Amino acid sequence: MKRIFTLLLSLLLVLPLASCGGTEQQNLSTPSEPAQIPNQIATVPSDNTSPEIAPPEEFILINGGTFQMGSPDSEAWRSEDETAHTVTVSDFYISKFELTQAEYQAAMGRDPSFFTGDDLPVENISWMDAIHYCNTRSTQEGLTPAYTVNGQSVSWDQSANGYRLPTEAEWEYACRAGTETPFNTETSISADEANYWGHYPYLIEDNYFSQGNLETKPGVYRQTTVAVGSFEPNAWGLYDMHGNVGEWVWDWYGSYDTAAQTDPTGPVSGTRRVYRGGGWNDFAKNLRSAYRATLPPDSASFNLGLRLVRNAVSGGGSVESSSAQADGQTDGNILIAYFSWGGNTRGIAAEIQRQTGAELFEIQMVTPYSTDYNTVLDQAQQAQNAQDRPELSTHVEDMSQYDTIILGYPNWWASIPMPIASFLEEYDFSGKTIVPFCSHGGGRFGQSLTAITKLVPDAVLGEGLAVSYSGGSGLSGDVTAWLEENNIPAN
Ligand SMILES: Cc1cc2nc3c(=O)[nH]c(=O)nc-3n(C[C@H](O)[C@H](O)[C@H](O)COP(=O)(O)O)c2cc1C
Repeated sequence: MKRIFTLLLSLLLVLPLASCGGTEQQNLSTPSEPAQIPNQIATVPSDNTSPEIAPPEEFILINGGTFQMGSPDSEAWRSEDETAHTVTVSDFYISKFELTQAEYQAAMGRDPSFFTGDDLPVENISWMDAIHYCNTRSTQEGLTPAYTVNGQSVSWDQSANGYRLPTEAEWEYACRAGTETPFNTETSISADEANYWGHYPYLIEDNYFSQGNLETKPGVYRQTTVAVGSFEPNAWGLYDMHGNVGEWVWDWYGSYDTAAQTDPTGPVSGTRRVYRGGGWNDFAKNLRSAYRATLPPDSASFNLGLRLVRNAVSGGGSVESSSAQADGQTDGNILIAYFSWGGNTRGIAAEIQRQTGAELFEIQMVTPYSTDYNTVLDQAQQAQNAQDRPELSTHVEDMSQYDTIILGYPNWWASIPMPIASFLEEYDFSGKTIVPFCSHGGGRFGQSLTAITKLVPDAVLGEGLAVSYSGGSGLSGDVTAWLEENNIPAN
């Protein structure tokens, strides 16, 4: 299966996967100084609420302004949660670069990253880790910490001069740098302009078999983060706003308040924090300036880091933010529900069943996908493009009896197969815990966790397990450790 998938992707995209790993550094453009921007010179404002300690030189002063946040209805691959609305942001300082591992290590004395290198962006840190980093570094540098953490509640003192995360609005304003197009590189982005899953440039989804129509052809997939600042910056001098790692922002995930507003800080409570910009493991469509990805605040990913901000003008007051997450109940009735096309996910589900004794439920379609691999690739792509909701032939009789649903699926085109969307929309999962597992061919979860959280915003998301294909000989041990992590009792 692995060989077939690799071969097929290679043939389709005319790019041998084998050539992905080694040569990418030579293809990167040399870091260059950002274009000089009138009015963007980093001077410390003179009012007495400004930072008494100037930010490090890699911070740029972004002059505030008004912009259209979100995407126009015409933008390909937009989601409904990107409703365009008018937002004004005040001046702020933002780092030109994603936070590096050297910076994280210096403040925290440890480095959680999956890929290692001083100049690589720190990743594999949760939103809570990012908050702690901001406060620790602020204290070390004699600044006032921006955040007060009380369990799952975090309040942000907007008058504090310490390091902080950008708000979602500040992030998008800085990313766009005046552009209104899907990317700050305008209508497309190539693998020479950003570190992402370069086999999947923007609009490839509609053009696998007619790539002549593509503005940007498939490029290198580096399969790793790269040194921050390896590509040209955007028009305001910021590097890697698209790709390399996604970047945590302050806001809880929720629908936008679409009235015109100034310095929005997002919902006061929620269950997932937003991250932006896409990473080395994302398709171009998920690098778009308006794309909103989400994860619970205690989740981490090797595709996700952060970029620091400092106040340029002091905000007034404090922003309270509490978790709306009910405690995950993983000691009640458990259902293992899964969709599998080739059998790998089915095998993993069987192992979970063996270890937990929980009930097993296979999600099946009234009209199944073709059993032919080439055909299913195409069918699955079409289904995702159209956001199909295929009719299911199997149904859970009484979902209310289950507290925890262990949900399995193959990674399909960096997201969930559409029968999973049908399943999630069929039942009320409010207050239930969904513990995802995913069988993949290298892409781990892709954006599937964001897709799930958008479909069932009121469910608790447990820690996920990403399994390479069938999981091989390590599967049993991996499943045991993962069940323990989720407090799911063994048989
Ligand atoms: C339509 C289709 C799309 C796929 N897309 C991806 C992908 O984007 N990333 C990835 O890592 N693997 C991808 N794969 C590989 C599958 O995730 C992998 O083979 C998985 O083990 C299949 O599970 P199953 O046997 O339960 O169907 C894809 C496979 C198919 C058939």
